[in-house]
Amino acid sequence: MGSCSFLTCFLCFLVFMATITSQAKADVTSQDFHYFCDSNNDRGNYTTNGIYSQNLNSALSIVALHASRNGFFNVSIGKGTNSANAIAQCRGDVTPTECTNCLAQTRANLTRVCSNRKEAIGWYENEKCMLRYSDRTITGLDEIGPAYFVWNLNDAPNADQFNRVVKKLLDGLRDTAASAAKGRKYAVSTATGPDEQVIYGLAQCTPDLSGPRCLDCLVQSIAELPRCCNNRIGARIIRPSCYVRYETDFLFFGPPAPAA
Ligand SMILES: *[C@@H]1O[C@H](CO)[C@@H](O)[C@H](O)[C@H]1NC(C)=O
Ligand SMILES: *[C@@H]1O[C@H](CO)[C@@H](O)[C@H](O)[C@H]1NC(C)=O
Ligand SMILES: *[C@@H]1O[C@H](CO)[C@@H](O)[C@H](O)[C@H]1NC(C)=O
Repeated sequence: MGSCSFLTCFLCFLVFMATITSQAKADVTSQDFHYFCDSNNDRGNYTTNGIYSQNLNSALSIVALHASRNGFFNVSIGKGTNSANAIAQCRGDVTPTECTNCLAQTRANLTRVCSNRKEAIGWYENEKCMLRYSDRTITGLDEIGPAYFVWNLNDAPNADQFNRVVKKLLDGLRDTAASAAKGRKYAVSTATGPDEQVIYGLAQCTPDLSGPRCLDCLVQSIAELPRCCNNRIGARIIRPSCYVRYETDFLFFGPPAPAA
């Protein structure tokens, strides 16, 4: 996929740190790696080589290994305050090999930049993969923060009509992703905007979410678009539990990954 080289010439991207939870903030904003290290440090630090540290290492190895098969895995290792919970997800189109590589890099960078933090989350390479961990339970929850929004600086010429097409596209993808029975909660499609413009859309939840929770997360993200990204020809909203994106004339997802 040439999306990275494409993006480097795509200077008109902005990254915006969202204040979704009380004071969620981005610790860094680079194009290829977005991470949040529990900015208030609510969960605290762990001791290097302590029990949590060992459980976390095991949990991260396990999720990285198994997520490559179906694009998602969650695990909990250890008990009580030393329990390490991890989730790994790859975008629905990412192949097992890409998924493994992406998660390996995310793991290395996330544990380095968020060193000794019990809770952290990171997304890599245009959201090809996401890795998160905590000492609290993180599966099954509709978690909308920390989040980040990215948008194209260009406005659509026929904005009203364009916005309507985007909304319809994303609402459809929202319903498809949320109603996926098991496995990947992932939907992609295209729509034709004003002047025959092709619009690519994507909606994805972590599949540990129930249908209603997935729906709720996606509803909130789509509702955010007119506020963050009104009229923009491309935008994305990234949250721990769900991911929404659309782009114009620019395919940002590959063919569907083979089912394991
Ligand atoms: C991730 O870590 C690798 C190896 O340490 C480094 O080369 C790379 O620049 C990092 N990438 C990002 C986006 O931080
Ligand atoms: C946690 O670790 C960071 C450095 O990694 C340090 O700055 C901070 O003071 C520590 N916080 C607590 C509560 O120990
Ligand atoms: C993943 O999370 C679900 C929901 O909390 C849980 O039922 C399941 O056992 C977890 N999977 C693993 C491998 O721990």
